Amino acid sequence: MRTIIVGFLGCGNIGCGVWKLLNEFKEDLLHRSGVEFSIKKILVRDIAKKRDEVVPRHLLTTNPADVTDDPEIEMVLEFMGGETPATQYMLRALQMGKTVVTANKMALALNWHLLQSAAEKHNAGLYYEAAVCGAIPVIRTTIDSLQSNRIEEIMGIVNGTTNYILTRMSQEGSDYADVLRDAQRLGLAEPDPTSDVEGYDAAYKISILSSLAFHARVPFDVVYRQGISQIETVDIAYGKELGYTLKLLAIAKRQGNVIDARVHPTFIPDSHPLTSVNGSFNAIFLHGHACDDMMLFGRGAGSAPTASAVVSDMLYAASRETPRHPTFRNNNELAEGLTVTDDWHCSFYLRLSASDRPGIMAHITTCLGNEGISIRNLMQRDAVDGRAQIVLITHDAGECAVRNAVEAINGPDVQVESMIRVEGN
Ligand code: HSE
Repeated sequence: MRTIIVGFLGCGNIGCGVWKLLNEFKEDLLHRSGVEFSIKKILVRDIAKKRDEVVPRHLLTTNPADVTDDPEIEMVLEFMGGETPATQYMLRALQMGKTVVTANKMALALNWHLLQSAAEKHNAGLYYEAAVCGAIPVIRTTIDSLQSNRIEEIMGIVNGTTNYILTRMSQEGSDYADVLRDAQRLGLAEPDPTSDVEGYDAAYKISILSSLAFHARVPFDVVYRQGISQIETVDIAYGKELGYTLKLLAIAKRQGNVIDARVHPTFIPDSHPLTSVNGSFNAIFLHGHACDDMMLFGRGAGSAPTASAVVSDMLYAASRETPRHPTFRNNNELAEGLTVTDDWHCSFYLRLSASDRPGIMAHITTCLGNEGISIRNLMQRDAVDGRAQIVLITHDAGECAVRNAVEAINGPDVQVESMIRVEGN
């Protein structure tokens, strides 16, 4: 039996979940892996705060050095969230040669280069399964199980809050603002929902995932990002009529040396496996040159699911003789030789409001035709107040060409009211 002395940085929802799992599952962990974890110190902001789990008061401290600098503590678990001071505390722990296990996608996506160099320099381990999609073992699957593949494409529902909102908008026909309010009341969305609904959370995750999948650093700031706050129920309904479901997808594709990485609302055909991922569940659909298509599905957030990933990392770290580090060049730039394109190709959904008179449809199709864009589906609804509703889906087209066409279409007689990308056709 081996005992590993552990310190926590933070003890909120995730920290309490890890505390609970380590205690409840102690015997099984010991039996399965011969390792026992002994928690020595827990950094908290407020010692008096009431917690879900009864954590002995003598373990709590407000001094980070009690965790990061204690020579007895071998493994530091970070659950503070946010970029600072979590990054600084993790750097300190790594500099002290300790293994760091983190659930913090923001700190990792923004400061991976710093954390990784500290880990390498001090021969320390840095593990982050819980940072991307909670309980779903997508990090380990990518770096271990899929080593034999060149991963060419990842499409993920990596944010449970937005998937919950879009699922309800779709199933009930409710408006975004009403569902968001409800989600906040139920504790499924934060009081300030920006990080989730504007796609930051998903962008951190796809930056991390695509870096591992492509063996090349894909920094957060090259990820195109558009959230769901402008989504209108009418588009979800028209999409449904045409056989599509709307999801907030995090997408990364690599073709040769060209990469695109993006987060945006996306229609996918109802036959695509990702359409079955509803509510706050997450899923990652990927394609490797040898494994072909694959989908991982599960809980992407929550106290116990996230604890499941943290404790799995602790066991993984404990089982390794030397720490595991990514193979890509460690800085915060896009890898040399690679380029990021903002001219990705997919289908596009356009909803237009137009004067109901001769020549309008010809104008629309000419503008699209001039950009080499071909129409796949088209429907027109009866005019309301003299304005017809036209909805179309294009065949595969370039983002820049579609933007040019939209600019040419727009005028007093026609307005493109929404443009939504379509993947998986
Ligand atoms: N806020 C995230 C979500 C969970 O809604 O999925 C943590 O990344």
